[in-house]
Amino acid sequence: MEKTTHTPPIVVSGIRSTGHLHLGNYLGALRNFVEMQEHYQCYFFIADLHSLTTHPTPDHLQESVRDILAEYLAVGLSPEKCALYVQSDVVETIELYLYLNMNAYLGELERCTSFKDKVRKNPNNVNAGLLTYPTLMAADILIHRADIVPVGKDQEQHLEMARTFGERFNRMYKTELFPAPQAYQSDKPLVKIPGLDGSGKMGKSEGNAIYLFDTPEEIRKKVMKAVSDIGPSEPNQPKSEPVQNLFTLMSHVSTPDTLAHFEGLYNQCEIRYGDMKKQLAEDMVNFLAPLREKIDYYRHNEQLLCEAAQLGAAKAQQSARATLSRVRESIGIKSL
Ligand code: TYM
Repeated sequence: MEKTTHTPPIVVSGIRSTGHLHLGNYLGALRNFVEMQEHYQCYFFIADLHSLTTHPTPDHLQESVRDILAEYLAVGLSPEKCALYVQSDVVETIELYLYLNMNAYLGELERCTSFKDKVRKNPNNVNAGLLTYPTLMAADILIHRADIVPVGKDQEQHLEMARTFGERFNRMYKTELFPAPQAYQSDKPLVKIPGLDGSGKMGKSEGNAIYLFDTPEEIRKKVMKAVSDIGPSEPNQPKSEPVQNLFTLMSHVSTPDTLAHFEGLYNQCEIRYGDMKKQLAEDMVNFLAPLREKIDYYRHNEQLLCEAAQLGAAKAQQSARATLSRVRESIGIKSL
């Protein structure tokens, strides 16, 4: 990891408020958040502004924000140990977003893989917010002058853009205000949790996800329907993508012995995917059961949610204001 400028390092990360969190969010991001709050100065937020690109209804937006806050608390994030806040409560981010947009170029924004994907999937909703999604994300990160940004592999390019925008600002205004934010554990590969549909990553909009709040019955049903293949025809045959995905999921929720058992059966051409899925489903149910109970508790505790969000907003605003005043000074924005 590159040299950081803060002791302890400053950590920033967020999750969009578009429905419940899934296993990919948990294993790719949240689990690291929980560990990091013990050692670093952490800012974890709910990216409600980012979710506006898909135009949720006001009711749906508010419900999603509440659900995700409940899920943050349920996995063990503590409002005392870290700043747990809602993105729109820190309006300073939006001002920084505007400044960064002045030096974010159409070509680089259009080349962004997630933008190209969204254009392909929803050609009728190519709005400016979608194009400048990476600048808003960079503003989230830079507003706290983050050193580390724990994200899953799918956010790697966005993080690189945040580095580019921060460095560009530093160069342009001859300052060292922004550190170059690094992915968490840059010495280890970033995690990509696959979906149940045989290809790609688990995602909210892909319809292939196991949610932290799914009931045991829902989990069993989804896992039993997961895509596999017709089975290996010779020993030690390389696995097809759908089957590799099942093994990858198993590696995260089952014991090493269970994983080795099914690897063995696969390599000897004796595997029955039905049995493997049954085991995977039970291990997932057990893995998620304690979380589900806690999510339910926080979802019904409005007061705790409000207190957490208010405390988080106050902490995040303080840090954001300090950065923004230095940004304004660098740019030459001053009240006369
Ligand atoms: P979002 O909401 O899509 O995902 C939140 C986090 O979950 C991780 N993740 C995954 N990791 C592994 N496997 C998967 N299948 C998987 N699916 C999701 C994501 O990598 C991410 O860490 N743009 C961000 C939100 C954001 C943000 C930020 C993040 C806004 N501003 C500033 C960090 C810093 C997003 O859409 O994540």
